[in-house]
Amino acid sequence: MKEKKDGRHEQALTVFGCQWGDEGKGKLVDWLADSYDVVVRFQGGHNAGHTLVVDGKTVKLNVLPSGVVRKDCVNVVGNGVVVDPFALVEEMGRLEDLGYGLDSERLRLSERAHMILPVHVELDCARELQAEKGKIGTTGRGIGPAYEDKVGRRGFRLGDLRDIGGMRADVRMRSLLWHHNALRVSLGLAEVGEDFILEGLAGISELLLPYVGDVSRELGAWRSGGKSVLFEGAQGAMLDMDYGTYPYVTSSNTLPGQVATGSGLFMEGYVLGVAKAYTTRVGSGPMVSDLSGTGEGIMLRDRGEEYGTVTGRERRCGWFDLVQMRHVCQLGGVDGLALTKLDVLDGFDEIYVCEAYEHGGERFYEMPLDVRVQEVAKPVWRKFSGWKGKSHVGVRRREDVASEALSYVSYLEEALEVSIEFLSVGASRDATIVMKDLTF
Ligand code: GDP
Ligand code: IMO
Ligand code: MG
Repeated sequence: MKEKKDGRHEQALTVFGCQWGDEGKGKLVDWLADSYDVVVRFQGGHNAGHTLVVDGKTVKLNVLPSGVVRKDCVNVVGNGVVVDPFALVEEMGRLEDLGYGLDSERLRLSERAHMILPVHVELDCARELQAEKGKIGTTGRGIGPAYEDKVGRRGFRLGDLRDIGGMRADVRMRSLLWHHNALRVSLGLAEVGEDFILEGLAGISELLLPYVGDVSRELGAWRSGGKSVLFEGAQGAMLDMDYGTYPYVTSSNTLPGQVATGSGLFMEGYVLGVAKAYTTRVGSGPMVSDLSGTGEGIMLRDRGEEYGTVTGRERRCGWFDLVQMRHVCQLGGVDGLALTKLDVLDGFDEIYVCEAYEHGGERFYEMPLDVRVQEVAKPVWRKFSGWKGKSHVGVRRREDVASEALSYVSYLEEALEVSIEFLSVGASRDATIVMKDLTF
């Protein structure tokens, strides 16, 4: 069993994004994975882009868990994930080229995880193209359509790769073709048949099948054997299908509540929320603290290099949003936070926090759940002095953090009633500051 960072004793840790994704989850998970035996993805798919910087080398992960560069970590893709088998093979190849090859001991894929097939990708892209208004700005990876087919009981799962001939004859094939062809015709796409659904699967099934199994059973056995497990969230709480800025969300539940059903393992433990020291969002939908196009918004984007890992799109940037974060700390049962990209604020004279929303003469300290209100609400800013001239690049100890930065962090802790356990001040694994002594 591995030694925990800071003497923690919980056997399970859930790490999830508290904003609109790209909070730096991958970096944190890779750093923490040193203390966990198993890292599990439980939702989302290769719409995720998680960046790790290890010994100066950048590793970009999509569907693979961020424990893959740790040789003594088992990585699990749970049943709640949707897997594009072609993209997965490509990602495994990319990792191998970087010297992080995986074997079937170190990577386990749930046989229950639904597959994203080319029909899903085509449908995702065609729907976005034809949407004049209300475009979601998806990653175009087929995530939504694959989850729709799962819920619609016509999806194929990784375990189905064991019998591709059987897929052709399965009742789900008829239902899938009937559903997709009706949509395809209305979107101006050509109708397809069984061959299109099955194309290429035989070629990759041999490669993937050694990794595929009943991982919930394997996880159960590891738990009984005392192994520690880190559950790695993708996306962010505000993209959660139920509690995010619906309909501008992803098609899965991204909150810690999804862990058990998305992995097949229930384990109580610590919940670590990851939040940037400011706010970003990529894709459409409300974001009250959005400062895109203003000097501050552009400066945050440029200093933070805020361009999407998956699509390269510019991320919208604004100051930290307390209203949104309070909502998420409560929804996610957050025990502690990691505050990332604090170094990005180094260059500012003044820093702001959105402490309330204003709309129709009313102030909201609680998140208004109506997206139409979120779309028009204005931020109420609170000003802090910055720490311009003091750089956090290379800082590794709490004692060396600028006093103004510590005041900012303390204010956030009080306002959110949550303790900030870690500060991240750079992309590399070791650019992390442990703030508290043995608090969990
Ligand atoms: P994720 O999706 O939550 O894993 O985050 P992404 O990898 O999509 O985006 C975070 C970006 O910020 C990546 O380019 C990281 O390398 C980088 N990053 C992570 N933590 C820090 C930090 O503390 N400071 C800086 N400057 N960059 C960071
Ligand atoms: P990580 O794990 C940021 C956003 C898309 C779009 C919406 C729906 O790297 O934090 P989808 O393709 O999921 O149907 O798109 O969700 N989105 C993300 N934004 N980070 C992500 O993942 C995201 N995954 C999806 O931009 O607005
Ligand atoms: Mg990302």
